[in-house]
Amino acid sequence: MTESTTIELRINGEVHSLEVETRRTLLEVLRQDLQLTGTKRGCNQGVCGACSILVDGNSIRSCLSLAVAMQGRDIVTIEGLGDGARLDPVQQAFLDAGAIQCGFCMPGMIISAKALLDKNPRPSKAEIRHALGNNICRCSGYVKVIDAVHRAATT
Ligand code: FES
Ligand code: FES
Repeated sequence: MTESTTIELRINGEVHSLEVETRRTLLEVLRQDLQLTGTKRGCNQGVCGACSILVDGNSIRSCLSLAVAMQGRDIVTIEGLGDGARLDPVQQAFLDAGAIQCGFCMPGMIISAKALLDKNPRPSKAEIRHALGNNICRCSGYVKVIDAVHRAATT
């Protein structure tokens, strides 16, 4: 029998009380229980970065994180960026740079970029490449992605 427990998760500034099986990942809970489907399920093995979210300001892989381990943490998903009326400047920069192709990797890329820029507002292109080095884009749009983050840092 699988064990369940009640947890509270603070996501995008809102506290959610949820009954979850202790074996479930945060990615599953975000997408299936809370319908926060902007966070993507790619490899589900910690490799592609599509499931990246911010936890206490750091970009982490939600497919590798148990939901029960996230209590008391400050979680931000792609839905938590911007203010509803306006995109976050990082999202806008991706649009302006034409960095988006199919879009599947974009939430993870933008979250990783956001984590970088919040800590280092003026990164070099080498630092941007390093920070996004573990986010895979199947459409191979890396040049424009790096340009987008650089644009966000310099405008
Ligand atoms: Fe989590 Fe690929 S889905 S790293
Ligand atoms: Fe298609 Fe990156 S834009 S996977």
